[in-house]
Amino acid sequence: MSPAEPDPFADPEWRAANRRLWDERVPIHVAGDFYDVPGFLAGAITLRDFEREDLGDVTGRELLHLQCHFGLDTLSWARLGAQVTGLDFSEPAIEAARSLAAQLELEAHFVQADVYSAAERLGRQYDIVYTGLGALCWLPDIERWADQIHALLRPGGIFYLAEFHPIGEVFADDSLDLAYDYFGNDQPRVWDEPGTYADLEASTRHNRSYEWVHPVSRVLDALARRGLRLERFREHDHTLYRRWPFLERDDQGAWRLPETLPSLPLMYSARFLRPMDPGPPSA
Ligand SMILES: C[S@@+](CC[C@H](N)C(=O)[O-])C[C@H]1O[C@@H](n2cnc3c(N)ncnc32)[C@H](O)[C@@H]1O
Repeated sequence: MSPAEPDPFADPEWRAANRRLWDERVPIHVAGDFYDVPGFLAGAITLRDFEREDLGDVTGRELLHLQCHFGLDTLSWARLGAQVTGLDFSEPAIEAARSLAAQLELEAHFVQADVYSAAERLGRQYDIVYTGLGALCWLPDIERWADQIHALLRPGGIFYLAEFHPIGEVFADDSLDLAYDYFGNDQPRVWDEPGTYADLEASTRHNRSYEWVHPVSRVLDALARRGLRLERFREHDHTLYRRWPFLERDDQGAWRLPETLPSLPLMYSARFLRPMDPGPPSA
């Protein structure tokens, strides 16, 4: 960051506001239809097919899920055989995740901490670090985030990221009219909207949020500059929620642009390897 740019860590208001917002939304998400907790308790795996394909067999692997919310995806990896740790800064989210793990008798470790202090708080490295859909927009600084990923990953380990494609953020709410910049978003977008994507009508008090748009190139480049090697990168033509009113739901539950419109990437996923550290030079 150049000296002229504001340091987002100098003003913790973004973190306090975002935590209040998430703390309030956790019980709404646990109780609502969107996350289908009864279906999860009955055995569902909430991960997307492409995530499972990209990561492959996780049996016995030590997996850290950053920004795990109340743990459905984390516990899904546990159901697939991983030894999981989930981390989130929201205490109600971590409590709900622990309660689900206990009800299901799934072995899992949940830690309440900010992503930016994850390496220090956890004090160890993992075979797999995973971060899932809807995580990066809450983070002001992708460089400091990439430092955390590198520090948390064992040499030979895999970092896997699945995210909403930031191109979706340049359009207006109800049309494909260009409305916002793709680049140059160091300043947060500050929203003040009741409800949640999981229940638009939910009555909420803490509605102010600070969010950032991170171009795909910045995310991939930040990881590559820390020595992580890109093994797989995909863009997906569908998403998880009704981003625009004209999206259509397919029979798998995914939201897609109608065939009458040009196609756009709506999610992306990337798999990186942290190569083994080079040994000492041979004599
Ligand atoms: C949309 S949810 C992620 C959903 C997730 N993919 C899942 O498994 O359901 C975003 C999560 O990020 C967490 N979060 C936001 N900022 C954070 C931060 N600075 N440190 C840790 N967690 C954070 C929120 O508490 C919330 O649980």
